[in-house]
Amino acid sequence: MTAIENAHDVTSAMRGLRQARQYRQDPVPDDVLAELLEVARWTGSSRNTQPWHFVVVRDREQLRRLSELRPPIGWVADAPLGIAIVLNGGSTASEAYDEGRVTERLLLAAHLLGLGGGIAWYGDSDQQAEAKRILGIPAERTARSVVVLGYPTTTRDPRPNPVAGGRRPLTEIVSYDRFDAPTP
Ligand SMILES: Cc1cc2nc3c(=O)[nH]c(=O)nc-3n(C[C@H](O)[C@H](O)[C@H](O)COP(=O)(O)O)c2cc1C
Repeated sequence: MTAIENAHDVTSAMRGLRQARQYRQDPVPDDVLAELLEVARWTGSSRNTQPWHFVVVRDREQLRRLSELRPPIGWVADAPLGIAIVLNGGSTASEAYDEGRVTERLLLAAHLLGLGGGIAWYGDSDQQAEAKRILGIPAERTARSVVVLGYPTTTRDPRPNPVAGGRRPLTEIVSYDRFDAPTP
């Protein structure tokens, strides 16, 4: 396998990736959506079970209803597109891992294609049940989150309780050979 030509541009774009929760009104073009769904389809999963189904949500009323599940996802109402992740409802740990993998691939691919996006988490089990009712998802499936996408206007966090950005330094989060080894 050869390194891709602009690999450092790609890793730099990956490092710079932030959640974007506010978007222009422009729709996400169909060809861009199709590419994102292919990226999602090719995501690896535990034992290649591919335990997912994706509900593409473009209907404004549907997005508004999801946004009302809880205040920290109120910003979903003004987004042009959501891709709701539905899992088979099997092994909780591996499906949760797979959900994280496919979510991050969608967000990264979207960023590389000039879009921005964010994760909207429905909330507790009652709120998840309500999200399933809104989207017509069978009750026995798992549905926890929707990946929300659009052309971003800002990465400012508009939530009632915004979270600080930035990241902990490598010296705090990496060790070599042993967890308790001193940083070289
Ligand atoms: C499991 C999970 C649930 C999340 N739920 C929400 C959410 O409900 N609403 C929201 O605005 N962001 C949500 N986020 C996004 C986080 O707030 C975001 O990853 C974090 O603040 C870092 O953002 P940044 O990359 O812009 O710095 C969620 C992220 C994860 C991993």
